Amino acid sequence: MKIIKAKDYYDMSRKAANIISAQIIMKPDCILGLATGSTPIGVYEQLVEWYGKGDLDFSQVTTINLDEYKGIPKEDPHSYYYFMNDKLFDKVNIRKDHTYLPDGMEPDSAVACQNYDSIIHSLGGADLQLLGLGHNGHIGFNEPGIAFEKETYCVNLSDQTIKANMRFFAEEKDVPRQAYTMGIKSIMSARKILVVVSGSDKAEILKKAFYGPITPAVPASVLQLHNDVTVIADEAAYGEA
Ligand code: F6R
Repeated sequence: MKIIKAKDYYDMSRKAANIISAQIIMKPDCILGLATGSTPIGVYEQLVEWYGKGDLDFSQVTTINLDEYKGIPKEDPHSYYYFMNDKLFDKVNIRKDHTYLPDGMEPDSAVACQNYDSIIHSLGGADLQLLGLGHNGHIGFNEPGIAFEKETYCVNLSDQTIKANMRFFAEEKDVPRQAYTMGIKSIMSARKILVVVSGSDKAEILKKAFYGPITPAVPASVLQLHNDVTVIADEAAYGEA
């Protein structure tokens, strides 16, 4: 595991975008695993800027996202589908039919998860998986205590995650209680993993996840077992680690 210290959020975003760009340049038809949340927004902005300058070509890229809320329609601005189109897909030359997220509007969880696993398997998994880090150590929506051997499944979000996500919704009651997420097994099958971490509120969990024991109580700690993980943390998140 390589832990790279960035000066600030902007520097973290540029460093991560550089690694993603290198992946696209080395393998133009690569499979990128993508994440939503606040942390990767700067990464996507940087990729869009470099695309605008003619430095990047997404025409052969395929993407698979980590997760999607269950029961939120695609056109709802809270959906991860909407987020990804707004932040990246609408702004670069990616083929929309090459961008995949779990189908949040499929009410049958078993069907939604099986369909998503079939897509991931048929693509052969991600060449590079981008991850954010939750305050409780979650990756994707794999909450503390989760079994490490799962592929895509339907998860009941923890109270802490519901509270953290409240900032995007008008009221707590509007925050979805369930999501479809790639499991730890799907995430660990990516050939390379890139984690972005920003802010002093992540300092404690960063230390636990990457310098502490490997335990389902801190889902991100399993990444210590992957042989190609790069963590890019800004100074505030890196803290005293
Ligand atoms: C997003 C995701 C989550 C976030 C995590 C951190 O697709 O799966 O695991 O990466 O909650 O979120 P932010 O970046 O908003 O702190």
